[in-house]
Amino acid sequence: MLIRDGAIHSVDSFAEDVRDGLQQTGQKTLLSKYLYDDIGSALFEAITRLPEYGLTRAEERILRRHSSDIAQFLTAHGMVVELGSGSGRKTRQILESLAHHQSMTYCPIEISSAALVSCERELDDLTHVSILGFEAEYLDGLGRAVARRRHGEAVTVLFLGSSIGNFDRAPAEDFLRGIRQRIEPGDTLLLGTDLEKPLAQLIPAYDDSLGLTEAFNRNLLARINRELGGDFDLSRFEHVALYNARERRIEMHLRCMQTQTVSMDEATFTFRSDETIWTESCHKYGRHEPVEMAARTGFECVAQWMDEEWGFAENLFVAV
Ligand SMILES: C[S@@+](CC[C@H](N)C(=O)[O-])C[C@H]1O[C@@H](n2cnc3c(N)ncnc32)[C@H](O)[C@@H]1O
Repeated sequence: MLIRDGAIHSVDSFAEDVRDGLQQTGQKTLLSKYLYDDIGSALFEAITRLPEYGLTRAEERILRRHSSDIAQFLTAHGMVVELGSGSGRKTRQILESLAHHQSMTYCPIEISSAALVSCERELDDLTHVSILGFEAEYLDGLGRAVARRRHGEAVTVLFLGSSIGNFDRAPAEDFLRGIRQRIEPGDTLLLGTDLEKPLAQLIPAYDDSLGLTEAFNRNLLARINRELGGDFDLSRFEHVALYNARERRIEMHLRCMQTQTVSMDEATFTFRSDETIWTESCHKYGRHEPVEMAARTGFECVAQWMDEEWGFAENLFVAV
């Protein structure tokens, strides 16, 4: 069953966020959540299969090797809520291990209706698993899902793929507190974090030779053209992936290659040559960092599983 309470992004709020981000003085920005329309979600899914993007395969290896260990911590839990499920491909491992023990409800929360539909299709054949998807923003969807928990039923939240890294570090901890406020002591959070690694490995993951990440990034401008009547000339913006060593994050930008003015309905945006629009951040973590993040946000990190081949940690937090 798919629950949709109207469109989560009205055209108005998308337009307002674009105007705010592109008219501000200083660094222009667009919110990364808008990367995921139907085309963006399809491109992201293709990116996860690229040789350069080892992150998804690393997490798949952890879940394949350790899913029964992970399930040991979760066996008493009857509701699994996944924030930003994407296609749900990786989640199969966890649900299959858990559904050995009991029947359960799985609630994917997605901003992208295309991702939600493919997730439901991907996991539809699992016996003992009822799927209840929410087209919603992360915390709004989590609140609505847990409101349906049955008496005595514990909740496991999944936040995989190092999507936590899209938040700056302090907002990431606020976000973890937001999860904690919506769940009960003893509930669990399985959090995927991509680890710091050499630039020779990291940069190609966000600037692949086939150009899929570039297309994923530039699709944001194409989406503004399609949905908001913008007139961005995509050929005048190039994809940039850089590592900000001070903040320990990859930043994706779109660099304007010549001075130009772009319009969107009544609004106009002026770009200087070489000016960039910052579209996404992907923070990288030390191995012990999630343990400290848990302690500061109302959780205890009770287990970690590492993939040494790529450098990825799966962290199991228990709400205290
Ligand atoms: C980096 S992808 C990760 C997908 C999947 N969890 C994985 O590990 O491959 C982030 C996913 O979260 C969704 N998403 C992004 N921002 C969101 C938000 N604010 N609320 C709900 N979903 C969001 C996107 O549509 C996308 O499918």
